[in-house]
Amino acid sequence: MDLARSQRLDALPPYVYVEIHRLVAEARRAGRDVIDMGKGDPDTPTPSHVVAALHDAAQDPVNHQYPLGLARGLPEFRAAISAWYRRRFDVRVDPETEVLPLMGSKEGNLHFCLGALDPGDLVLVPDPAFPAYEAAAILAGAEVRKVPLLVENGFLIDFDSIPRDVAARARAIWMSYPNNPTAVVAPVEFYEKAVDFAQRTNTILVSDNPYADITFGGEPAPSVLTVDGAKDVAVEFNSLSKSYNMTGWRSGMVVGNPDVVGAVRSMKLNTDAGLFGAVQIASIAALETPDHVLSAQMDTYRRRRDRVVTALRRIGLAVEPPQGTFYVWAPLPEGTSSMRFFTRLLEETAVVAIPGIGYGRYGEGYVRFSLTVPDARLDEAMDRVEAADGLLPDRLPRDN
Ligand SMILES: Cc1ncc(COP(=O)(O)O)c(C=O)c1O
Repeated sequence: MDLARSQRLDALPPYVYVEIHRLVAEARRAGRDVIDMGKGDPDTPTPSHVVAALHDAAQDPVNHQYPLGLARGLPEFRAAISAWYRRRFDVRVDPETEVLPLMGSKEGNLHFCLGALDPGDLVLVPDPAFPAYEAAAILAGAEVRKVPLLVENGFLIDFDSIPRDVAARARAIWMSYPNNPTAVVAPVEFYEKAVDFAQRTNTILVSDNPYADITFGGEPAPSVLTVDGAKDVAVEFNSLSKSYNMTGWRSGMVVGNPDVVGAVRSMKLNTDAGLFGAVQIASIAALETPDHVLSAQMDTYRRRRDRVVTALRRIGLAVEPPQGTFYVWAPLPEGTSSMRFFTRLLEETAVVAIPGIGYGRYGEGYVRFSLTVPDARLDEAMDRVEAADGLLPDRLPRDN
């Protein structure tokens, strides 16, 4: 018997990424020049004013101790988050009761489930989706029901299609736009429907919005909290990871309904002692990043997006340009398994893209390319893709 096993861990779904990592490591061992377009991890550095703020704050011995407020977060950081929500989304949140800093938003997903749900509670999770939502619910002992995101609905949740008994039992529903992996942005009208659903069914509405700044339409994507009455039912997770190239810093937040924010806070007060004070101070600087820095970043993603969409269309994939996020969600020809495509792409071009099945069964038939690869490498990857023979042979058998 394993020394350390739990039913909780055993209940997690098999991790497709384990197999992906194995195959990629094998290709590297065999000497292939692998270009990894799988990771959603910005390749450009954190803005220099943020690094400078960290450097200065790290000199101050007060930041070498437990941070003021512990897991509640520095009052100044909470105030900066509140001001950012007001500027970015025209949303007012009380920094005392409706804002909580997180060590990256992913950490908050689990603490939300542990603090707000009981074992056996029903949680609705979109499919395809970032796998952490389902994992957090399962680790908290909740029951997960998948809600399909279908191309015919623009990959938005169709609240009317959720069976009445399921809606009545649900304690929480997740949504995330701009969406990883489908790259669509949700309009405010969608959020109005979401809030209405949550109010009617007495369900906690959980929005994950880390890509709000990464949109190709010129405006930030909306927040669910712009909808009247949203705070009665909703919280929003957000993150500095993607907008400010800060994935390694672990800085994020949950804002919105004070009961739910309070539940996450109680979990964290019993689990951690908050983010490093200097990281919180540098995070304030990040939230004050001038718009031109973000738009220069978007110019880079736009250039890369155009290169990838052109290449994939050239090889015969009917790709829609992403509306937001730094991903391209490419549909494969009917009947082509995403894992087979992944394997063939790796073998023929040494390029890595994530098979859609990694995001759930409704992700099957798609593959996700990330734009967070330096320009020259991305061009090289797309040159290889365009030059490859037989990347899309007819009707590869489904293998799941
Ligand atoms: C939809 C989504 N939410 C959350 C995260 C994690 O963000 P953080 O770095 O803040 O934990 C990611 C990272 O890939 C993501 O794609």
